[in-house]
Amino acid sequence: MGSNEELPEGTVQNILEQDSLKWIFVGGKGGVGKTTCSSILSILLARVRPSVLIISTDPAHNLSDAFQQRFTKTPTLVNGFSNLYAMEVDPTVEHEDGLGSDSTDGFVSELANSIPGIDEAMSFAEMLKLVQTMDYSVIVFDTAPTGHTLRLLQFPSTLEKGLAKMMSLKNKFGGLLSQMTRVFGVDDEFGEDAILGRLEGMKDVIQQVNKQFKDPDMTTFVCVCIPEFLSLYETERLVQELTKFEIDTHNIIINQVIYDEEVIESKLLKARMRMQQKYLDQFYMLYDDFHITKLPLLPQEVCGIEALRAFSGHFLSPYQPSITRGTVEELEQRVSTLREQLRNAEAELDRLRKGKQKI
Ligand SMILES: Nc1ncnc2c1ncn2[C@@H]1O[C@H](COP(=O)(O)OP(=O)(O)OP(=O)(O)O)[C@@H](O)[C@H]1O
Ligand SMILES: [Mg+2]
Repeated sequence: MGSNEELPEGTVQNILEQDSLKWIFVGGKGGVGKTTCSSILSILLARVRPSVLIISTDPAHNLSDAFQQRFTKTPTLVNGFSNLYAMEVDPTVEHEDGLGSDSTDGFVSELANSIPGIDEAMSFAEMLKLVQTMDYSVIVFDTAPTGHTLRLLQFPSTLEKGLAKMMSLKNKFGGLLSQMTRVFGVDDEFGEDAILGRLEGMKDVIQQVNKQFKDPDMTTFVCVCIPEFLSLYETERLVQELTKFEIDTHNIIINQVIYDEEVIESKLLKARMRMQQKYLDQFYMLYDDFHITKLPLLPQEVCGIEALRAFSGHFLSPYQPSITRGTVEELEQRVSTLREQLRNAEAELDRLRKGKQKI
């Protein structure tokens, strides 16, 4: 291994310094610390950005638990901040602004709904459109466990494909469509043209968002995990899927790490620590070009702004147990003292041996 400078720094500083970032996704397996990490990331970003919005897209919302404040589907200022907002949306039930709710476009909405996932994708797109008009400097997503997140990231592509399909159907059956709308007594201004206009409008947002999600200057994905086999496996799957969707990822946060100093007595924790070390080594081997941030397992939960703030220190400076803490000079000094002690002990032993022989 080369010098430490060749390795990416083990913090999230790179994210805080990348001014161009607009969308930051935080994802990983259930219960590993996604909400905790995305909340802390948004708190840290609020120090360096004019405005930050954190959105939970997990139907089982827990931003409210982390911040100990109730949030809704409209951005709400987080207590104690002047530029950090939070909102909780549920991509699976939000239909109001989707295509399906418009009573004038029964035929078109039938078509739209026949495309798998389009409804969910549409409400996600509506949400993104809304958020984009709000002009936040950066938007952090606290996502639901892996499978759901990957589907979410596919939405723009699903929509692009779906809309292309609808356009081609429109071209094929255009005449029939206008006849249908007339039969159902829909005025022209609410009919086919209006619907297609709306779709076209949506298409622009979708294409724009799709382009932004695939732009590493604007979007990145932070993988949160714990040092265990299943989590390592899921992280690898996640990284591969993200690469397939052309979504940038170069930060991994390994949470709940047990360090030496905390396990002097417990055999159980010692065993777990050895197990964790095995997977930590594998993470470092597999992702040597990633910024890997390690976070210690705390004796208590990370709940409320104060706890989040206190824990945020570990995101900025790599956590080191006190055993190995110290500069190279200090370590050299300790080694030379130990050598000196060893020499003295050997000399003493030598003297004792000689004395014994005389006796
Ligand atoms: N390093 C840690 N030490 C101790 N407790 C932690 C640590 N990280 C997170 N927690 C606690 O673990 C619980 C789960 O964390 P969190 O809600 O962030 O996970 P999640 O990945 O968002 O879960 P879900 O998949 O259910 O959304 C929370 O109660 C949180 O306070
Ligand atoms: Mg969560």
